[in-house]
Order: sequence, then structure tokens, then C-alpha cells
Amino acid sequence: MAKTDTIFVCQSCGAISAKWAGKCEGCGAWNTMAEETARPVVPGALSTPSGRKGKGIAFADLSGFSDPPARLSTRISELDRVLGGGLVPASAVLVGGDPGVGKSTLLLQAAAELAQSGAAVAYVTGEEAEAQVQDRARRLGARDAPVKLAAETDLRKILDGLRALKPDVVVVDSIQTMWADGVDAAPGTVTQVRACAHELVRFAKKSGAAILLVGHVTKDGQIAGPRVVEHLVDAVIYFEGERGLPFRILRAVKNRFGPTDEIGVFEMGERGLLETPNPSALFLGVSGRRASGAAVFAGVEGSRPVLVEIQALAAPAAYGTPRRAVVGWDSARLAMILAVLDTRCGLGFGGRDVYLSVAGGLRISEPAADLAVAAALISALADAPLPEDSVAFGELALSGDVRPASRTELRLKEAAKLGFKSAFAPAGAEGDKVAVRAIARIGDLAAVLGAGAAH
Ligand code: TYD
Ligand code: MG
Repeated sequence: MAKTDTIFVCQSCGAISAKWAGKCEGCGAWNTMAEETARPVVPGALSTPSGRKGKGIAFADLSGFSDPPARLSTRISELDRVLGGGLVPASAVLVGGDPGVGKSTLLLQAAAELAQSGAAVAYVTGEEAEAQVQDRARRLGARDAPVKLAAETDLRKILDGLRALKPDVVVVDSIQTMWADGVDAAPGTVTQVRACAHELVRFAKKSGAAILLVGHVTKDGQIAGPRVVEHLVDAVIYFEGERGLPFRILRAVKNRFGPTDEIGVFEMGERGLLETPNPSALFLGVSGRRASGAAVFAGVEGSRPVLVEIQALAAPAAYGTPRRAVVGWDSARLAMILAVLDTRCGLGFGGRDVYLSVAGGLRISEPAADLAVAAALISALADAPLPEDSVAFGELALSGDVRPASRTELRLKEAAKLGFKSAFAPAGAEGDKVAVRAIARIGDLAAVLGAGAAH
């Protein structure tokens, strides 16, 4: 019999160690090593033939592929868009997000829609009792949808049930609660989660079902335990939202079948998640007079324009190193903009605490936000509000030059649609309904706002 050994596996990165340690040698995380039992793989054990005839794999030609199977629409177009046009049969999607953000709600709504459009849908929950899910279905007005519901965590029983049911779509909520009986580790550990995800993905590929796995996110924003699961599945989508705000944003971080830059926007209401097909006005903050330090960024998320307010505050620093705090944007990028403003325009933030926040809980990653951030910062420092009807976009180079942004026309059109009259934009941008104030160098913007000296 193979010798079994106790090993310690980092629940964050999967690194294995023979002894317990407070800090993982692999990723440096603290308190993540958990005890598991391993049956060591004997090197070379797989290199001898299996002995049975005809058991090797069969190879096919590249030309052998038929047309890809039709996608299943969830009839929730914000979700379909993020998936790249609906669910792909024989695929697995991981849906991550903070507890309480609305993952179960979204997937129950999708399950109900799919079932109502004729797909065979199974919803397996390991988190809640059947009655709780039924109660949620009642709230969502989805009680009559022919979804097959089971509350179970034993993967063997679940797979047996699924093989009998032959569903087109399976929801598993959540992967951290599932356990496979052949695996000697507690539910939620890397080993269990990986084994369960692997089995479920295999089931999807074999049976042709589309599987949606819910994964919890840890405090530091990763799907708990298993980054490993991200590699096993075909698509990973995150559901994000700010506590206290009704907006929820769905974003793909990996998708083998579609783009990863589209977002889906929802609003959590009394009767579940409502789609927001036209999100650009959501993130404009409180309407009315714009305060100093606020700028509107004309952004693009995937194929859609999104206008979002960026707020900056430059408060006198009490003592020591000034604080830099950012919500919804990259802090390294903020440091770069501050350095460019200091070096190229003589605008020093050295004695100031700087706070930067993107309104509405949106997270921006477009470099074209640079100019809007710079405008907010300059306006905050000078305590001078920007023109109320203006937007800004453009990427900033270290030299202080403002680089052209993609999709200029789309940005300007959306700004015009929402009543904006002018745009601080890279030189060369042209709009017919919005007056473009060309900013070739960052100093030009500072001069327009009456701050600093153009270098
Ligand atoms: P849930 O889907 O349970 O979140 P998750 O599965 O990601 O943990 O949703 C949690 C929150 O959503 C909960 O605080 C209640 C709220 N909610 C509504 O506001 N309206 C609704 O119709 C539903 C079903 C939930
Ligand atoms: Mg849930």
C-alpha cells in the first residue's frame, strides 16, 4: 500500500511543505498552511503501459471540429454580454464575489430564466437549506420556474443525481462547501476545492452541460483558497459592489469564449437584480454644482461608454509621510500622476494627504482616465471647481505629453448625450456637439485651471 504522509498546503497559492509554518515560503502569506494527507505519486508510475488493450487516447484532426454549439442565453443580457454571448455548452464558469454581493441571487435569476426558456436546469446549494432558496425564488417572482433544486454537499451524490437528471445547466453554490469522499481534507481546503472543481468540470465536458460554480472571495479579493480553480474553468467572472450602494458590476477576468473587457451593470432591488442597460449616468455622483476636486471621466468599458465622476481631496498633512488613499483606481498610477504634476507643472503635493475616489463603486483600469484624475487633483489643490459641463479623458506620459485615447468619438457622443458641453481631450480629438479643449501637454491643463506654471 502506498505510504500516506501528512503535508502542509498553502491555502492561498497551493505551495506544499513537509512542516507547518506560520508563513508560506511560496507566496509569503501568513497563517495559510493547512494540514492535508497526501498519497505520494511514485515517479514513473504512469510511464508503464496500463496493460489493458485499446485504452490509449485516440487522436483527431484539426479539421474534425464541427460548428461550435449554440450558446444558451440566460435572458439576462448584462450577464450574457459578460459571458461573451451566453453560456457555452460543456463549459465551466466560476462566479466570484464577496459574501452578500448577490451571487446566489444572480444565479437563481439566471437559472429561472434558463429553465423558463426550456433548458433543463439544476441548482445545487451547499450553503443554504432548500427552504431558503425557495423563499428567495418567491421574492424574485421565480417560484414557478421549472428549476430542479437540491441542498447537498456530498459530490458523489450530486454527480449521481446530475447523471440521472441530464441537465443542460448546473449551478453549484458554492465550490467551497462541496466535498469529495475520496479526498482526505476538510471542505474549503485547496485539495478539496481543487478535487471537486476538477470533477465538476469533467462532468461538464463529458455531459455537455454548462456549469456555473460560485466561489467566495477572501478579504484580499481572491477566490478563497484556490487560484487553482481559475485555471480549471473556462471563464472567471467577478461580481463586485460597494457596501451601501445598490450598484453591482459583473466583470470577466478570464474567458476562453469571449472578450474580458465587457462589464454588466445591475441594481439590487426589492425583487432581486435589475439590469442597467444604460449605465453611463449611474456613476456621475450627486448632480448639481460640481465641487472642487471633482472631474468627470468619459470612459469606455468594453463596447459601452461610461461616464464616471472622479473625486480628489488634497488635505494638509499633519505630520510624517503624507497619506495616499485610492478607491477604484490603481495607487501606483496615482503616484505617477502626482510625480508628473510635480515635475512638469511644479504642482507639489508633498505636504498634502491625497485621497482619490471613483464614484459609485466602479473600478477603472483604463489609462485614458489619467487626464481626468489629473484634472481632479489640480482642481482639488487649487480649490477651483472645473467647468460644470466638462468631461476629460486622455493618457498621460511621463514626459507630461497627453496621448490620444481610443474610441474618442464614442466618448464625446456619450458626453453630448448626457448634456456635457466641453471636453478636455488629447489634441486631435474632434466632436461636433461637444467643444474640445485640446490638451497637448499636462501644463496646458494646469494653465487653463489657473494653477502652476507650464514647463
Ligand atoms: P445573495 O445573493 O445571498 O449574496 P451572495 O450569494 O453573494 O452571498 O444576496 C445577498 C444580499 O442581497 C442580501 O443582503 C439581501 C439582498 N437582496 C436584495 O436586496 N433583494 C433581493 O431580492 C434579494 C434576493 C436579495
Ligand atoms: Mg450565496
